[in-house]
Amino acid sequence: MIRLAHLSDTHLVADPGGLVSGHDSAANLVSVVDAFPSRPDVVVVTGDVSEDGAPDAYRAARTITAQLAREVHYVAGNHDDRANMSAVLDSATAFRMVDLSRNWTMALVSSQWEGNGAGRVEAATLARLDDALAAATTNVVVCLHHPPRSTCSYPYCGIDNGPEVLGVLTARPRVRAVLSGHLHRRFDTTYDGIRFIGAPSTLRQLKHAGSQAHFIATPGPPAAGLIELHDDGAIVNHHVSTGRRQPGAYWRRIWQRPSWLPTR
Ligand SMILES: [Fe+2]
Ligand SMILES: [Fe+2]
Repeated sequence: MIRLAHLSDTHLVADPGGLVSGHDSAANLVSVVDAFPSRPDVVVVTGDVSEDGAPDAYRAARTITAQLAREVHYVAGNHDDRANMSAVLDSATAFRMVDLSRNWTMALVSSQWEGNGAGRVEAATLARLDDALAAATTNVVVCLHHPPRSTCSYPYCGIDNGPEVLGVLTARPRVRAVLSGHLHRRFDTTYDGIRFIGAPSTLRQLKHAGSQAHFIATPGPPAAGLIELHDDGAIVNHHVSTGRRQPGAYWRRIWQRPSWLPTR
């Protein structure tokens, strides 16, 4: 059995103690790391590792997550600078398969779409994923920033070519789980036999609302997932929380005009 820590949306900044949306992102990440009952076998951080793409933010990510496990993998989110990130971290630039055990392989997929908050998986990346899934002889857990099956209907919260991505994932029976971030809200659903698991953010949790007021920051504690990948393909998803509620819930509007879309 593999114990996989699923961290996401750490939104670290170059300045130690720097605030993001009023929260100390590094301190919050440290508190989540400390909340794990024991060290997992491996960690995946599903994007928005940095708020500003600064190299020092990625160095902070490396230092803090090293306290949790020796093996840490990353995929890029819409906030990340892919060049700075891959220069500092062991991160997939577009696609990579990682052996976890005799029974499990992890596929790291970039859904970063340059200049956009929403995701997109480029055709070449999707073709590589499809080939790897066709050749897979183990169970596969796919990790990417944007959810292929988003629990929020707003385009910003999904993947531009989501149906195409979903088609590739569901066509291959080796795919057992799909892990994502971006929503800053945990979810766990099953679709076509695949577990779709969204991580809470280590920075702050959001509640997604209607199309006018798109999301609201909630006082939910910094948190992460701890996922057991059993040898027989079974998956158990645990919630790891600091238990410390945060102040500062407020409504934030997102309008249709693309130039006004906020980064998150
Ligand atoms: Fe984020
Ligand atoms: Fe994001």
